[in-house]
Amino acid sequence: MRMEIRSLATPVRCADAGAIAEAASLLAGGRLVAFPTETVYGLGADAGNGEAVAAIFAAKGRPRFNPLIVHVSGLEAARRQAVFNPPAEKLAARFWPGALTLVLPRRPDATVSLLVSAGLDSVALRVPSHPVAVALLQAVGRPLAAPSANASGRITATSAAHVAAELEGRVDLILDGGATPLGLESTVIGFNENRAVLLRPGAIARAEIEAVTGPLAAAAGAIRSPGQMESHYAPQARLRLNAAGAETGEALLGFGAVADAWLNLSPGGDLKEAAANLFSMLRDMDEQVEAIAVSPIPMTGLGEAINDRLRRAAAPAAHRAAKDTKP
Ligand code: TXA
Ligand code: MG
Repeated sequence: MRMEIRSLATPVRCADAGAIAEAASLLAGGRLVAFPTETVYGLGADAGNGEAVAAIFAAKGRPRFNPLIVHVSGLEAARRQAVFNPPAEKLAARFWPGALTLVLPRRPDATVSLLVSAGLDSVALRVPSHPVAVALLQAVGRPLAAPSANASGRITATSAAHVAAELEGRVDLILDGGATPLGLESTVIGFNENRAVLLRPGAIARAEIEAVTGPLAAAAGAIRSPGQMESHYAPQARLRLNAAGAETGEALLGFGAVADAWLNLSPGGDLKEAAANLFSMLRDMDEQVEAIAVSPIPMTGLGEAINDRLRRAAAPAAHRAAKDTKP
């Protein structure tokens, strides 16, 4: 019995130079490696290898219509895959390397697999800043497709232990670079006729983007992010939002100066701290309680992304909705 469990174990290695070199050779051989970025952990594969990219979808149980973010080492590498427009140039200059993903038209000679685009004619690109991600991209010398390293629809992983809990046995190596500093996924920006569109609020707040692009257009029609499914980031526990306090049977995930919080995202009401704590605290509480009440979070700054994640986490999950399937 013990042997079977051991054979499923995924190695978790401290992300030193040796582990990064091993990760790069695994990736070059078409295998999957989870690695830290400044936002959350990614489940990486060689973006130019269709079989390796297909293995990401299988490992996550991710629907094939949901495209993947491609991580590149810099702007020049990004230009080889996609056609930039003027606002995209300005955003890349301001925020790369960093927590910004740009969705741009694929170049006809793009080298990344069509699978990363999931049938769309666009590709999502990001230049990460985390030293481990930077070193890994440098060592492997090719773009890496990497969605968040969680099972599809589940709580995002912000530590190596969380990745192991999500993807044990389904990834060849996990590089441990500690807790991810921002704790929320990147902000995803697409374009409609050269007008920037917010596809997913994330670790860079709307106002920071708008300072570069002017007001962001609303996502509509074809300019949508297929991954913005209603239920996502879902704990097993019931989740009640904008709660003044915990009711019987609930534990409170607080924000600001609230009494009797089980955990507090930020006792001082700091949204950056709350973003960094969000997924790990949700995960902690999910392991221990049946029902979670969450304090109101203001919609300013990073609050837009935090509220987006909480709303999706509270939406009925597929496994629960399946119980009362409508005709
Ligand atoms: O911070 C992050 O963005 C993390 C780290 C690992 O980089 N990655 C991440 O990937 O959150 P994922 O796959 O969990 O989310 C990618 C989002 C999805 O909502 C997906 O639908 C959207 O980006 N996306 C990817 N390619 C797209 C495309 N071509 N058009 C529209 N949306 C796209
Ligand atoms: Mg994700």
